[in-house]
Amino acid sequence: MTYFSKLIGTGSAFPEKIMTNAEFEAFVETSDEWIRTRTGIQTRRIANLQKGESTSTIAIAASRKALEMAGISADKLDLIVVGTVTADSVMPTTGNLVQAALGATRAFSFDLQAACSGFLYGLSIADQFIRTGAVETALVIGAETLSTLVNWQDRGTCVLFGDAAGAAIITRTTDPKHSILGTRLYSDGTKGDILKIPHGGSKIPHYLPEYQHKNHTIHMQGQEVFKLAVRSMIDSSLALLSEHDLTPSDVDFFLFHQANVRILEMCMKSLGVPREKTWINLDKYGNTSAATLPVCLDEAMRQGAIETGNKVLLTTFGGGVTWASGLIQI
Ligand code: ACO
Repeated sequence: MTYFSKLIGTGSAFPEKIMTNAEFEAFVETSDEWIRTRTGIQTRRIANLQKGESTSTIAIAASRKALEMAGISADKLDLIVVGTVTADSVMPTTGNLVQAALGATRAFSFDLQAACSGFLYGLSIADQFIRTGAVETALVIGAETLSTLVNWQDRGTCVLFGDAAGAAIITRTTDPKHSILGTRLYSDGTKGDILKIPHGGSKIPHYLPEYQHKNHTIHMQGQEVFKLAVRSMIDSSLALLSEHDLTPSDVDFFLFHQANVRILEMCMKSLGVPREKTWINLDKYGNTSAATLPVCLDEAMRQGAIETGNKVLLTTFGGGVTWASGLIQI
């Protein structure tokens, strides 16, 4: 028997606090006008740690919505994968926190770090487990509280990021027409310096004298990331489509990683994607890293922009650097 993975549920969740561009003017030299015109971002959500919001709490909320849409209970889950670079703790993993909160007693769970590509990496891994027959149903989450890793004095990065979680449930099917048609994952560690968080890992832990507070925050060479993100998302999309003898005109809907509206426009122009065939929520949430794609997928599904039978192409680029594309027929 040949197995494939079918998407049966999606969900998303956010911290309560909405932070506007104008709020940054109080502590860095910037303006609403600069942020809107250079990035397309207007607001973002920020987790309130004092109120108990964290990566796991929004991941759990998004997962509950996905389970509800899928119409299954948590004990049907065999696997939980969480793409995140902002896990609540090193141990237990955020996957385990989600597993415990949902009561997904049969599922094994883990976190994976691929920055903004975390969701597509997780989806691809879960798809491989389902295709081999090892797993029947998987919950894949992209969840981040990047507000905890931002240098709030660096205007070049602090205005860009936000907190969110998105979740998707995939399950075994024998129908190849309504399934994950394929994924392609890429990494290039030689370019890791253009988007990195140097301190806070095991090489320079927080208790060493070399440790600096600002070096455990996001360091980005904005223009280098911009150029590479555009090229990588276009190239990996075309490579995946060509593997399936398809061109961009065969795709019904496109979901691009939401980092900068100018990146989106360049990808759309190069691939010939009209505005009505894509989802843009960067204005509301900023760049939410691994959460971006599952949140876009959830919003587009719930608002009817994506319909049964549609071919949906997802593509992303992330720190470290990683990038990925995925093609799903709903
Ligand atoms: N407000 C006002 N001025 C600013 C701000 C700000 N928030 N940020 C930077 N500037 C200034 C710079 O200091 C610079 O000033 P200078 O000329 O006096 O030195 C000027 O604006 C131009 O800076 P650039 O970096 O050249 O501006 P650019 O047009 O490249 O925009 C940006 C910067 C928005 C960061 C852009 O490069 C970008 O979006 N890059 C990609 C970012 C990205 O995609 N990151 C994440 C992808 S991977 C992931 O999601 C983890």
